[in-house]
Amino acid sequence: MNPRKHILFLLIFTFNSFFNPSMAYPRNVSFEFPFLPLQNFTLLGDSYLRNGVAGLTIESDVPSSSAGTLIYTTPIRFSDNRTNSTASFSTRFSFSIVSLNPLSSVGDGLSFFISPENHTLGSPGGYLGLVNSSLLTQNKFIAVEFDTRLDPYFNDPNENHVGLDINSLNSIKTADCDSVGIDLRTGISFTTWIDYNHDRRNLEVFLTRSRSKPDHPILEMDIDLSSYFQEYMFLGFSASTEGSTETHLIENWSFKSFGIKHFNPRINDPHNVTDNTVVKTPPVYDSGNDNFRKKIGFGLEVSGPVCLFGVLVLFGYISVKKWRSIRTEMNIKSEVTRSPREFSYKELKIATNGFHSSRIIGTGSFGTVYKACLLASGTTAAVKRSVRSREAKTEFFAELSVIACLRHKNLVQLLGWCVEKGELLLVYELMPYGSVDKVLYQDPDDRGFLKWSHRYKIAIGLASALAYLHQECDKLVIHRDIKASNVMLDANLNARLGDFGLARLIDHNKSPVSTLTAGTVGYLAPEYLHCGKATDKTDVFSYGVVVLEVCCGRRPIDRETGGQNTVNLVDWVWRLYGNGNILDAVDKQLDEEFDEVEAKRLLMVGLSCANPDSEMRPPMRRVLQILENEAEEMMVPPVKPMVNFATSLPMSLEDLVSSSSDDDEPEEGSGSRKTSDSTFEIYIDGSRE
Ligand SMILES: *[C@@H]1O[C@H](CO)[C@@H](O)[C@H](O)[C@H]1NC(C)=O
Ligand SMILES: *[C@@H]1O[C@H](CO)[C@@H](O)[C@H](O)[C@H]1NC(C)=O
Ligand SMILES: *[C@@H]1O[C@H](CO)[C@@H](O)[C@H](O)[C@H]1NC(C)=O
Ligand SMILES: *[C@@H]1O[C@H](CO)[C@@H](O)[C@H](O)[C@H]1NC(C)=O
Ligand SMILES: *[C@@H]1O[C@H](CO)[C@@H](O)[C@H](O)[C@H]1NC(C)=O
Ligand SMILES: *[C@@H]1O[C@H](CO)[C@@H](O)[C@H](O)[C@H]1NC(C)=O
Ligand SMILES: *[C@@H]1O[C@H](CO)[C@@H](O)[C@H](O)[C@H]1NC(C)=O
Ligand SMILES: *[C@@H]1O[C@H](CO)[C@@H](O)[C@H](O)[C@H]1NC(C)=O
Repeated sequence: MNPRKHILFLLIFTFNSFFNPSMAYPRNVSFEFPFLPLQNFTLLGDSYLRNGVAGLTIESDVPSSSAGTLIYTTPIRFSDNRTNSTASFSTRFSFSIVSLNPLSSVGDGLSFFISPENHTLGSPGGYLGLVNSSLLTQNKFIAVEFDTRLDPYFNDPNENHVGLDINSLNSIKTADCDSVGIDLRTGISFTTWIDYNHDRRNLEVFLTRSRSKPDHPILEMDIDLSSYFQEYMFLGFSASTEGSTETHLIENWSFKSFGIKHFNPRINDPHNVTDNTVVKTPPVYDSGNDNFRKKIGFGLEVSGPVCLFGVLVLFGYISVKKWRSIRTEMNIKSEVTRSPREFSYKELKIATNGFHSSRIIGTGSFGTVYKACLLASGTTAAVKRSVRSREAKTEFFAELSVIACLRHKNLVQLLGWCVEKGELLLVYELMPYGSVDKVLYQDPDDRGFLKWSHRYKIAIGLASALAYLHQECDKLVIHRDIKASNVMLDANLNARLGDFGLARLIDHNKSPVSTLTAGTVGYLAPEYLHCGKATDKTDVFSYGVVVLEVCCGRRPIDRETGGQNTVNLVDWVWRLYGNGNILDAVDKQLDEEFDEVEAKRLLMVGLSCANPDSEMRPPMRRVLQILENEAEEMMVPPVKPMVNFATSLPMSLEDLVSSSSDDDEPEEGSGSRKTSDSTFEIYIDGSRE
């Protein structure tokens, strides 16, 4: 909108609110979320949002006890005691209850609730995340539960029912889902409608497997909710588990409310005077525009049209000035602010306990990684803190806007950033198992922990993330720094690629080669070492190395068993392949427990990606198809091809290794691997969450 239109718009709606006083109040609320955006919700407990789907409890195939709540941040007006009116509402959402490991016990279920508080979080187990087990009457709510466990304590009828709960989990009324042929626990998606009509004092709950609303409600009750509604209430979802692997997902949601009558001070006020001191200050919760309308409206009633003109001129002037100054910034920021958001330094400082050393979970060339507990959302996250000076802010935002738009199930999601006090802080999802590098080598207890199926899944996940970055998202995004320490593992041991784009963000003004650290060398394509130019093909090379690493359980540049010589992983596997015994390369930690066809396929994919000739490397989408057995494997020459560059390498490996030593950061506590030989100080680079 240009400034002139902006003023015109203001004029229109201001007059509108002056001459049509009924416009002055937001009474009907209506919204629809085809997917759930992070910025409109507060996440408490174990809840999370991923790709627009909210998970309320821990997603893991290991049984756990968990409770989580998702709360819509904007309060909704449910009653207006000045007009003695109460809202009616109607809501629809789709959910699924999936047991990741159906053999373990099920439970407990999820609920939709309306609560006067926006920090309601209850206990796991039968408490559905609604009630605090040690303060049973503390949390107030009106909830509709979808319960998957028979809890005799709360008089549950069975382990598959819907119930209406008010301030207690002893349902006021329940309905058996079996009666309509629905089993909540099957993992498929159900859609439910919850309608409360205040004129009829009636609540109805509909539940179906299809898209359209059924003719008959599964649960129906005559009830007057007005005594439970406070003026403003919060809406939310909650769920819990207790020693089970059930996950509770909310896929989309719509809500509307109506029936709050307009409060007109001249008609409703018993004193019936035009003195504006009688008019109550408008409630704080109304959205900006409405507030503004009201203020203007009330002002006008007092001072008349002269004032109206003055206010308009002044406001128009201010908004043009302001508009101009913020426009440039907004253009850049609007891209960024959609889901990842800007954090304040203070917020992150509190979340990391003042960047306390006990919160450090890793260090790397980027800086230090802290575990953070974000109070506002009640979630844990990883905060990367870099104290290096930054390039121009606009450039930073331009880069960030690319990263912020990336969304893929195999990428570590960026939650936000903060540029303040000469520091750059990036906030990411926290990955419970840390990096592949850590799981493969660092922790002796973890060795052999990755089964063959996990390893194959990691290769597929990483390929899928790269196919997305290279071929599926709007812009070609080159990662530049793919290595085992940048591949994280989520709660289900899915690969999640981290730190994308950072290489460019951080090392913007430096030529790439001069900032190489030794740990990265084993992952770099020969042409990258030669020309210093990163392409999607150099990413494919690094991918190949990571795949071989995951398959063989060996670092890209490793010491010969019992010897002093270094072994290049790619050369080693290629030699075994040339000799016809490629399966000897598979990690011995697996104790021969692996699928030979898959192992051979994975090793061949690794070799074809790590081909020194960049032209011979397959594109990532092809790799994904091969791994999913949808495309033919690539032909791999039995002898590793040689590539010749016109001039020699700018630096030898030894130069790179020693030049990196001043970049070293202190290694994290125990389990770190240091050797006296500086050639082996690899993997210093990269964070370890
Ligand atoms: C979601 O949040 C954004 C940003 O806070 C806001 O502009 C938008 O109106 C919200 N949407 C709904 C439906 O509440
Ligand atoms: C109306 O509600 C407000 C706060 O919500 C309260 O302070 C006031 O006393 C109430 N008025 C009546 C008449 O109940
Ligand atoms: C408000 O409405 C209730 C019924 O909904 C009625 O009992 C009560 O008298 C009304 N109060 C006023 C002040 O009109
Ligand atoms: C809860 O709502 C209050 C307004 O009532 C708001 O100030 C506060 O930030 C909200 N808290 C959360 C965690 O959303
Ligand atoms: C229950 O309430 C107690 C006391 O306020 C609090 O310490 C505890 O964290 C609460 N439990 C949950 C699950 O919120
Ligand atoms: C909500 O999500 C479910 C499951 O993904 C889908 O079947 C349904 O059509 C969606 N509803 C709307 C209105 O988008
Ligand atoms: C509010 O919603 C009700 C019911 O849908 C409708 O009758 C009424 O006209 C709406 N009011 C406004 C101001 O939109
Ligand atoms: C309030 O005053 C207006 C005239 O200003 C009058 O029409 C209306 O009936 C009065 N209402 C009451 C409740 O006295």
